Amino acid sequence: MNQSKKIDVLISEEQIRSRISALATEIKQRFANEPEPIVLIGILKGSVIFLADLCRALDRPVHLEFMGVSSYGDATVTSGVVRITQDLTATIKGRNVVIVEDIVDTGLTIKYLLQMLKTRDPKSLSVCALVEKPSKSKGEVPIDFLGFSIPDQFIIGYGLDYAELYRNLPYIGVMGD
Ligand code: IMP
Ligand code: MG
Repeated sequence: MNQSKKIDVLISEEQIRSRISALATEIKQRFANEPEPIVLIGILKGSVIFLADLCRALDRPVHLEFMGVSSYGDATVTSGVVRITQDLTATIKGRNVVIVEDIVDTGLTIKYLLQMLKTRDPKSLSVCALVEKPSKSKGEVPIDFLGFSIPDQFIIGYGLDYAELYRNLPYIGVMGD
């Protein structure tokens, strides 16, 4: 399969690394008085690379969980209808939970997840997103820990795909012509 289309770097490996280190510090401070492991829920598949780096920057107890979510619709437009394709393997009742998402675009996915996970009665529920497109989410989504805000453009790499490709790019890019 070819990944040979020209790709412009939007956020470099170095920028990602240093932002994750700052995010980890924020998260550690927020839960400094919570000795029990916090539950990091990675939303498949886009967040796995971010989660892998973020959790290794967190020198505190964590548990890793995953949820599969798919929204109906085509590759570049979110339809707003969210479906759970894989659920957690652990209970989150009474626990500190952080949803780890690759990108908040319209915010529909994260709003749905927040609503759904709240019903399971966690001690706290927060959101950590690597990227947000504020012009699309209109600031309606409470993102507790945010990596980068970007203009409304389609990005790939560092977990983010276009038709399942490009997730393995070590940086975040935009496709050129
Ligand atoms: P939302 O529900 O509109 O916030 O979009 C959520 C999902 O759409 C994200 O978790 C991504 O999987 C996908 N998505 C949104 N924007 C992009 C993008 O620029 N590149 C790759 N995937 C994206
Ligand atoms: Mg995603």
